[in-house]
Amino acid sequence: MLDNPLAPSWLACPADVNALQSGVWPMNASRSETGELTIAGARVGDLAAQHGTPAFIVDEADVRARAARAKAAFDDAMASIGTSAKVYYAGKAFLCTEVVRWIDAAGLSVDVASGGELAVAVAGGIDPKRIGVHGNNKSEREIEAAVAVGVGAIVIDSAIEIERVAAAARRHGVVQPVRLRINSGVHASTHEYLATAHEDQKFGVPIASAPELVAAIRAEDSLAFLGLHSHIGSQIFDASGFSEAGRRLMELHAALLADGPVPELNLGGGFGIAYTVADDPDDIRDIAQRIAGAVQAAAIEFGVPVPTIAVEPGRSIVGPSTISLYRVGTIKPVTVDAPSGEGTAIRNYVSVDGGMSDNVRPALYGAAYSARLANRFSDAAPQLSRVVGMHCESGDIVVRDEYLPADVAPGDLIAVPATGAYGWAMSSNYNWVPRPPVVAVRDGVSRVIVHGETIEDLLRRDPGVGR
Ligand code: LLP
Repeated sequence: MLDNPLAPSWLACPADVNALQSGVWPMNASRSETGELTIAGARVGDLAAQHGTPAFIVDEADVRARAARAKAAFDDAMASIGTSAKVYYAGKAFLCTEVVRWIDAAGLSVDVASGGELAVAVAGGIDPKRIGVHGNNKSEREIEAAVAVGVGAIVIDSAIEIERVAAAARRHGVVQPVRLRINSGVHASTHEYLATAHEDQKFGVPIASAPELVAAIRAEDSLAFLGLHSHIGSQIFDASGFSEAGRRLMELHAALLADGPVPELNLGGGFGIAYTVADDPDDIRDIAQRIAGAVQAAAIEFGVPVPTIAVEPGRSIVGPSTISLYRVGTIKPVTVDAPSGEGTAIRNYVSVDGGMSDNVRPALYGAAYSARLANRFSDAAPQLSRVVGMHCESGDIVVRDEYLPADVAPGDLIAVPATGAYGWAMSSNYNWVPRPPVVAVRDGVSRVIVHGETIEDLLRRDPGVGR
């Protein structure tokens, strides 16, 4: 079978269009003897019958295992340089009380980025001391709620917040531990990092103003300075960005030690995952070791002890654990001019019953995903396809480029892997489409961990209905 000239260079026509691409699917995804996709022992046909489509299907054991593995990787790496690790799960990737419980059981802490995420983390029962709070514009109410519940760390993002957090802590008669977020000038994207003196973005404070702000934090009796924080970006494959940020922050960290304790250094999250066969992320243990090596080298260079190292992975914990399950509605082979100018080629548009309301990442970032026919094997030839949603815009793409069997038909199920991070979390009601449920599967048993919405739920928000 020849590659379709419309396919991107990274996407080869597969030898077996039924095979689940390695590294892309949840740990417990496989095909049954009839060819039906199963997740942790549950058949997708049964899941669709029980929970409807579209639906997010989470392999619970996969999330738990990745959380435990990340924790062990950083615990071991930091122990090897004579210090300890704190691993926060970044809840913005996907949060509900059940996930909080899994994360808690694996021994991780939780990082939240809003009052809503804080409320979910608290409702999930984790010790508030194991919650870290982020945000470049936390409201007074959010700060109040975080202090009142006794969170273990608030990450101060601007000079203005020092007094706000200090005042809230005074009102509650507590000493609130805080970090200071630094704009390190290191910015990483998937395969590269940039380091500039003045990165043009909204988060954190410049390295140059940090000494003055840390002095202001230390001057507040109601604040305890935990250390510096940096987050350089997301979906990063090149660990050198973390090493560079680690070195820059350690230099500042060392200078701050002259005037008081600095027990920790938080290097944020951002570890990449595989969405397609083109992605080849490093193992979390290698990343942890490289970060440990960079921090240790900087500690020696600047003549200071190695602090406790905190990290905040989100995507790498939940992303690969989850598939989106859709039902095919319409099929449309579209003849397209080939990019080479030589003739035409066919792209098969496969429309499913969800789209940019349940996964905005392709539309927002041009993010690439993979897909497979999920309810059966097919021995039809692979055909270059584009899985598209049901929304009223042409950018409503679920999977831009994928080979699917040529006999994909209305009623078939399509599974899109690696949608666990920033899928449901960034979902919307565009076109008044109800959000799908999130369903966890373990040992063949499925249960809803976030209810799907119904049209009645949506109508209830409109005060004009029935008037
Ligand atoms: N810590 C901080 C301070 C962050 O801002 C983030 C992500 C994380 C940790 C977790 O990063 P992760 O390990 O998940 O890459 N919506 C985008 C990603 C935005 C990430 C924002 N911050 C996406 O869908 O790709």
